[in-house]
Amino acid sequence: MSDADKSCDLNQGIASSQLPEGGMLAGHVGETEVLLLRNGGKLYAIGATCTHYGAPLIDGLVVGDTIRCPWHHACFQLSNGDAARPPALHDLACWKVEENNGMIFVREPLPKPSQPTLASATLPRSVVIVGGGAAGNMAAETLRREGYTGSITMLSADADAPYDRPALSKDYLAGHAQAEWIPLRSPDFYADHQIDLRLGTIVVGIDKAAKELQLEDGSHVPYDALLIATGAAPVRLDVPGADLPHVHVLRSLADCQRLLDSMELVSNCVVVGASFIGLEAAAALRQRDIEVHVVAPDSIPMARIMGPAIGEMVLELHKSKGVFFHLQTKPAAINREAVTLENGETLTADLVIVGIGVRPLTALAEAAGLATDRGVLVNEFLETSEAGIYAAGDIARWPDRHSGQSIRVEHWIVAERQGQTAARNILGRREKFDAVPFFWTQHYDVSINYLGHAEHWDRIDVDGDIAARDFIATFLQNGKKLAVVSTGRDRETLLAEVAMENESSG
Ligand SMILES: Cc1cc2nc3c(=O)[nH]c(=O)nc-3n(C[C@H](O)[C@H](O)[C@H](O)COP(=O)(O)OP(=O)(O)OC[C@H]3O[C@@H](n4cnc5c(N)ncnc54)[C@H](O)[C@@H]3O)c2cc1C
Ligand code: FES
Repeated sequence: MSDADKSCDLNQGIASSQLPEGGMLAGHVGETEVLLLRNGGKLYAIGATCTHYGAPLIDGLVVGDTIRCPWHHACFQLSNGDAARPPALHDLACWKVEENNGMIFVREPLPKPSQPTLASATLPRSVVIVGGGAAGNMAAETLRREGYTGSITMLSADADAPYDRPALSKDYLAGHAQAEWIPLRSPDFYADHQIDLRLGTIVVGIDKAAKELQLEDGSHVPYDALLIATGAAPVRLDVPGADLPHVHVLRSLADCQRLLDSMELVSNCVVVGASFIGLEAAAALRQRDIEVHVVAPDSIPMARIMGPAIGEMVLELHKSKGVFFHLQTKPAAINREAVTLENGETLTADLVIVGIGVRPLTALAEAAGLATDRGVLVNEFLETSEAGIYAAGDIARWPDRHSGQSIRVEHWIVAERQGQTAARNILGRREKFDAVPFFWTQHYDVSINYLGHAEHWDRIDVDGDIAARDFIATFLQNGKKLAVVSTGRDRETLLAEVAMENESSG
């Protein structure tokens, strides 16, 4: 019996009393799982699982006329299933609902809303996007979703079409995700949407006066509006042996593929760095039964970002899975068999993964004379110091209204949401980027969610038990809530997100 058979058949109808105002009920129509809701006096039937990674939306939160996903806070319109906020890229299916004689029936699927078309003499004739990552891809998709019919060119140094970068250090590296799941879109998507995606294409200069880009091969690409979304590059280790072939970084799909190709012969790995990428990679390798040693200068991993108690929890989690830690030291040298540490220890290693941070790729913007300060400076509309040139994602430093600071982060969802906002502003919307920053990190079956932005704090209020991995911790500075970190508290984290949005707008 399938899961759908076990749940309520919504086509046969349910009693209206089973679904009071604000209620949600999971059921099925045929083989398809459907979520039925009553909100604001209206009934909705939508796909029951998030189109990002399949979270059950019944555990999500209805906010206004939308529903937010419990796992990574994607947001869908109830009326038409529109994937209003990333990380979901696909809309939800919707069904017609009827209520009569005290019964509710879910009928046939509703047709997909027709795509709008925007035609205006004030729109740019061509949009060029530099970068085919989270921000660049979302910008291109948003331009088309909004009905823009002009030319879109996406220039990406990457050899691969846009892909799910966060999966590279998690399920894909662990061997649990198939290669077909990694691209964000099907191979035909870009051609079908008339997005001229040019892979392996490196932009080396921006001529603002001529409004054209110089490519590494000597050719030029003119633009009317420009989005720079070049992301970040891994910091390389600067010790003897760091350039040996078994020493890897992990940023691109090609990096990940190289790692996977070498995996069969690996039995001992040294991971350099105990932050997100390093520890996620450590977890993935342990799931392949590879011996993993983590080397890092920190005394407690992630303490600078999440505080010592959450850092300890992460440390204990990894130790319980058999990871060995060598903290408060660094690699001094690497040879083909081993890594020598500054504290004199020698660790056998046939694979080394370096995860010691990234640097935003701001060189293009700097050379073009755009204002930069540890990132490309943008205003609340994500426009750089040059009108008509926007920046988004890991390179962008924007005025965050929640923390009251100018910040730059390295979060997948922020990059996608900025790509979305930048695209709308290229179309003249003047939409402020005011999303509460959000990221998640996954270690084995433990997901840690981070909402907001706290570089410093003077208090952490904890509800629950951090060591038991069931908590929500609020980071405050002078009584102001800056960030929330949680594990196992999805709904409360969604509520905290809404509260932060309302506080900042109040
Ligand atoms: C392994 C890994 C796991 C991660 N996991 C998470 C996670 O769990 N949660 C989370 O929130 N974040 C995660 N991140 C961070 C997240 O992926 C980034 O914040 C996000 O990808 C940034 O998007 P972006 O568009 O700014 O840059 P990117 O996605 O890096 O895209 C930049 C693009 O620009 C191209 N480019 C660069 N220079 C040029 C040039 N000169 N010419 C043409 N093209 C150029 C690149 O080839 C690339 O296509 C992870 C990152 C990595 C590497
Ligand atoms: S599973 Fe819904 S946003 Fe990721």
